[in-house]
Amino acid sequence: MGINRNILLWGSKNEFLKKKIPQMKAIQKAVKRFMPGETLAEAIEAATKLSQNSISTTFTILGENINNLSEAESTTKNYIELLERIDNEIIDIEISLKLTQIGLDHSFEKTFELFRLIVQKAKECSNNVFIDIEDSSYVDNTIRFYKEIKKEYDNVGLCLQAYLYRTMNDIKEVISINPWIRLVKGAYKEPESVAFKSKSKVDENFFEISKYLLREIREKGIRIAFATHDLSLQERIKKEAETLMLPQYDVEFQMLYGIKQSEQIKLANDGYNVRTLVSYGKSWYPWYMRRLAERPANVSFVIKNIFS
Ligand code: FDA
Repeated sequence: MGINRNILLWGSKNEFLKKKIPQMKAIQKAVKRFMPGETLAEAIEAATKLSQNSISTTFTILGENINNLSEAESTTKNYIELLERIDNEIIDIEISLKLTQIGLDHSFEKTFELFRLIVQKAKECSNNVFIDIEDSSYVDNTIRFYKEIKKEYDNVGLCLQAYLYRTMNDIKEVISINPWIRLVKGAYKEPESVAFKSKSKVDENFFEISKYLLREIREKGIRIAFATHDLSLQERIKKEAETLMLPQYDVEFQMLYGIKQSEQIKLANDGYNVRTLVSYGKSWYPWYMRRLAERPANVSFVIKNIFS
């Protein structure tokens, strides 16, 4: 398959493709592999099935880089309604969102005001909110945002990317505020000036950061989620945790809906804390292109759908 990660990541931002591709029936069918459906009801049904295997979930409403602040306000309303709705469920569902979904491209202050409404509602529902991390141009502002919101709320976590050279330092900088961290490899197209380009270097950095974070779990009991489908990295993290005599349940793995499902169940059966991120909503195009870019072999699955 000649199509590569860069083309797919370029396609994720192309305005023409953004309009055309989601209308294709075959693509709509292929997307089902990574998301239970566009509606909240379908997401809840998927979460209920996962909970039967002792797997918790995180919900995210798809969408990013909105055009104006009134869209940010309606997205905020959607997240608040989501929190109210899932509060009626007995299963464990957290939420996660992108700051550009609620206005970061337009106003830091307004985004903060809207996020505060969401996290306050989450607190009232005894729930938690994670902040997704976007491309490297947003990292400074997202960390500044996180430090500010942590002064007021403790039920907030932050995602950080191991492919960025800066991440170990960023983590050491926020560690004093008892952060909750979700560590990922990183899903965007980044230049060599800011990010490791080879898989082996990204993996090594992920593991180095994980070793540091595992010690923080042991010493301070802070919450860390290792969000990767990379089974060999998971193995290394499990071994390191064992060496530190951490109980399995203190080690949290997060994975995406539809990817390595049987391994997710196995981890939960082995006593690890497992959470699956379930995305839903109509604006799935850029998100779906990033999923394809993570594994360009997935494109052959899409092509099979087009011809089947
Ligand atoms: P890697 O890409 O090396 O994949 C390991 C193996 O997993 C592959 O060999 C393949 O078998 C399987 N796999 C991985 N991706 C697949 C796919 N799309 N389809 C099929 N198989 C696949 N990124 C970001 O920049 N900001 C964020 O906020 C988040 N948030 C987030 C939350 C959670 C819960 C997860 C699991 C991931 C993210 N990500 C993210 C995405 C992350 O940065 C990364 O792009 C993917 O997790 C893929 O990287 P892996 O760590 O799985 O390793």
